[in-house]
Amino acid sequence: MKTLAVIALKGGSGKTTVAAHLALAAHLRGLNALVVDIDPQRSVSDILSAREAAGPACVTAVGRNVPAAQFGALAEGRDLMIVDTPAGDVEGVGEALVVADHALLVARPTLIDLAGLARTLQVARRLKRPATVVVNQAPVPREGAEAPLVKRALKGLDYMQADRAPVILRARTVYQTALERGRSAEEMADRAAAAEVAALWDFVAGTMGMKAR
Ligand SMILES: Nc1ncnc2c1ncn2[C@@H]1O[C@H](COP(=O)(O)OP(=O)(O)O)[C@@H](O)[C@H]1O
Ligand SMILES: [Mg+2]
Repeated sequence: MKTLAVIALKGGSGKTTVAAHLALAAHLRGLNALVVDIDPQRSVSDILSAREAAGPACVTAVGRNVPAAQFGALAEGRDLMIVDTPAGDVEGVGEALVVADHALLVARPTLIDLAGLARTLQVARRLKRPATVVVNQAPVPREGAEAPLVKRALKGLDYMQADRAPVILRARTVYQTALERGRSAEEMADRAAAAEVAALWDFVAGTMGMKAR
């Protein structure tokens, strides 16, 4: 079993959106995935319980119980455990990181998000956990050119020597509407969003050495 922590000290960057989509991606590829929701807002739990079809399992926990949840997941024969974490909670991020094989740091391409990201990255580096940044909610490129905001953010990430996922998730309404009913953008008609999710899944699965069943 592999464990992925989805983290960002900044709120609203898209942790829950990414965590839910990756759990659903695993499920859609025949893997047995569990989401551990340590955010008191219980967003990912609400999202996944709204799903009508079969889907990934989800449990809520407090940060200090993440290792216990991991033992449980191992015993249940899960393939993947994803921890969705709250914003602003260094301790919670730490609890998720210590059990994680990999951390996915989610950031919007804004100055405030990047400032928060620098701190999140520090925590991951201190705990010696491999961490990758995924830029989320970026504007769609116009005529193939990235918006100046995105270009600046990418430069900032280079400066921080942050590893970056090979895909940028764009601001697309389908990410919101799909999750209203616990579905993935991969299950919707918007092929652009589906391709982004699939590319992120391929990256995460490849990095953590996971195979589809
Ligand atoms: N790529 C995206 N495109 C459009 N809306 C998004 C995207 N990612 C997240 N959102 C929206 O942004 C808000 C914050 O996302 P959420 O996943 O809850 O962030 P976090 O868990 O980091 O607080 C939500 O309303 C969500 O639907
Ligand atoms: Mg959240």
